Amino acid sequence: MAGRVAAERWFGDWFGGRPEQLWVAPGRANLIGEHTDYNQGWVLPFALDLGVTVAAGRRRDGMLAIRSRQAPGAPADLPLAALAPGAVTGWAAYPAGVAWALREDGHPLAGGASLAVDSDLPEGAGLSSSAALECAAALALDGLHGLDLPRPRLATLAQRAENDFVGVPSGIMDQSASLLCQAGHALLLDCRSGETTTVPLDPAGAGLALLIIDTGARHALGDGRYAQRRDECDRAAAALGVSSLREVTSLAAVAGLADPVLRRRARHVITENERVAETVALLTGGDLAGVGAVLRASHISLRDDFEVSWPEADVAVDAATAAGALGARMMGGGFGGSALALVPAGQRTVGAAVTAEFAGRGWPPPGFIQAVPSAGALRLR
Ligand code: GLA
Repeated sequence: MAGRVAAERWFGDWFGGRPEQLWVAPGRANLIGEHTDYNQGWVLPFALDLGVTVAAGRRRDGMLAIRSRQAPGAPADLPLAALAPGAVTGWAAYPAGVAWALREDGHPLAGGASLAVDSDLPEGAGLSSSAALECAAALALDGLHGLDLPRPRLATLAQRAENDFVGVPSGIMDQSASLLCQAGHALLLDCRSGETTTVPLDPAGAGLALLIIDTGARHALGDGRYAQRRDECDRAAAALGVSSLREVTSLAAVAGLADPVLRRRARHVITENERVAETVALLTGGDLAGVGAVLRASHISLRDDFEVSWPEADVAVDAATAAGALGARMMGGGFGGSALALVPAGQRTVGAAVTAEFAGRGWPPPGFIQAVPSAGALRLR
């Protein structure tokens, strides 16, 4: 929250004057539907009440000037005309990539822009801080230059920035969640058609809470293992003669894959798509508690079939479940970041149990965030 107010003040300190527009784009949690987005399947994320704020103003010198409270020693002053993949590294590549993707899409952003960035979202925790930064920058650049592009289009351009400018092969889930979610709801996204449906998600109303456990293990989607999973899924789809694993609905077909690794990867994607549908049915029927078992099954599938879990997540999930969570699972791309647990509201034993298990292994204490399904990106001014 503090960042939302501060970005406006920092704009004045860094660039002089007041910003013309102020935007906040949230991070996300994913209730279920992991590693399904780039397989053209379904995902069910929700927006967090934590995000990236961008205070923005137009310029006349053709520059994109970006400053961040989180990277005080690394200001970026980039001639818009010179933006090209590989030309910018570090945090500034995300907003610069968005300007590049807009330009490539036919929106040159004449004159340029000044962007002051602040965030209350932990980085590397698997809560999509990079997508939030892209989306806040996309809305600010779109707004300043009067483009008025539809949000699904901005999500696609933000993803393009990440894929082609930054060089991280992520799917469309995180940007869609940040731009399209509604408060009190999860977002069911069909990643093939782009169709979205809001699904009521009210943990407090069910006497429950969604607890994010930041395991402290840091992940980077660019480290090659995420891309390797994408490649394995593409190879499984090719071996099955379909354009994406979304087309496969029968596990019997998967059993025919010769390569046991591809068999496991495909089995995860197919069963995870089923779990999304099951979760939507449970939520629609008012049975959030019933989702606990589905979260548990998702974790086992991500751990054993997709093999993207990590030791801290496995320990957090097992300890949370043993201490009374209705279900828990690793969340996001994997290999680090956060887990998500569905717990009785007001109950402290789950957090205490996870903390104790971490301490027993000599690991730093995990962080906890109560996840409240919140609104997608907003213009604040
Ligand atoms: C990361 C990516 C998403 C998605 C998840 C796994 O968060 O950015 O596109 O693939 O991993 O579900």
